[in-house]
Amino acid sequence: MKGLILSGGKGTRLYPITYTSAKQLVPVANKPVLFRVIEAIRDAGIEEIGIVVGDTAAEVKKAVGSGTRWGAKITYIRQEAPLGLAHAVKISADFLGVDRFVMFLGDNVIQGGISSLIREFENNDWNSQIVLTRVAHPEQYGVAEMDADGNIIRLIEKPKEPPSDLALVGIYMFDHHIMEAVNSIKPSWRGELEITDAIQWLIDHGYRVRPYIHTGWWIDTGAPGDLLDANGLVLEELTPRIEGYVDRGSQVDGRVTAERGAEIINSVVRGPTIIGQDTRIVNSYVGPFTSIYHHVLIENSEIEHSIVMENSKIVDVPVRIEGSVIGRNVEITKSPLKPRAYKLTLGDNSKVGLVVNGG
Ligand code: G1P
Repeated sequence: MKGLILSGGKGTRLYPITYTSAKQLVPVANKPVLFRVIEAIRDAGIEEIGIVVGDTAAEVKKAVGSGTRWGAKITYIRQEAPLGLAHAVKISADFLGVDRFVMFLGDNVIQGGISSLIREFENNDWNSQIVLTRVAHPEQYGVAEMDADGNIIRLIEKPKEPPSDLALVGIYMFDHHIMEAVNSIKPSWRGELEITDAIQWLIDHGYRVRPYIHTGWWIDTGAPGDLLDANGLVLEELTPRIEGYVDRGSQVDGRVTAERGAEIINSVVRGPTIIGQDTRIVNSYVGPFTSIYHHVLIENSEIEHSIVMENSKIVDVPVRIEGSVIGRNVEITKSPLKPRAYKLTLGDNSKVGLVVNGG
């Protein structure tokens, strides 16, 4: 089997973070989501992986490379415009050949990996296996309508009146018949070739599409809240390890990971939390569900339930920071200047929540 990862798209809901970086490279528990996807596919025994890339191709290639790091062989496939998931399959025809494959959206995180799913698909002669999970807002996803025996009757993309709460998770398995489907369907109202329509085409033409209902967590990390949720869930599953230095004046609980070269000085760190390589936490509090990436300085400040990306500085901030996603090379400090005022240099679409007079 082969793997096909989709890593295009603009990531508009994560602006301004994704102005300068691909959404699939945003770190969750100090590892880019895309790396987690590659590992999940590799752990299922698949070594040949195609990555469909768009405008952020250069950055994705630089971060991922040839795949040797994972014992995988990676082929990049350029998608000129984001014309849909089925379009991505269509342009991957040469890479896929007649092999069976798993397609995985590069911004999805799923509990438990996909090894058992891949094994099931390999051991059966289904033409496709799709993953469904119950969600609170099915109208935001592709949704399945099932009969009493658990067979799929119909799949609808973002229905206004969802027939069920079973959403399509961004993980799909196909054999070569999907090529005929993607070449037969027409673009949807949003101008995209929808994978949902291609799977419906398979069902309508008598091919066997088997539903698998996933019961663990699954997160599409499209928006800041989803990113923080995914971060918390992945942190809870990390096996803690202290590779960095913790001084005697600090309190660090058993659910904290400190990566190589990290320094925790006179601080309190409560897990599940990860402190990245060569990051320094000085006279500070870092609370649960926080991921601080590499080469960051947190000094005389408090932060929890947040993601801080590489090379940023948070120094002398008088109010606790929480529920925040902080990008690369960001500096948050107390202004030394009079008058006492907020001094902000923020990119387009930044969001800041200020505490005014303690209110
Ligand atoms: C895509 C699929 C949708 C699926 C979702 C999962 O939606 O079209 O069927 O439920 O991924 O994340 P999109 O992210 O393109 O809106």
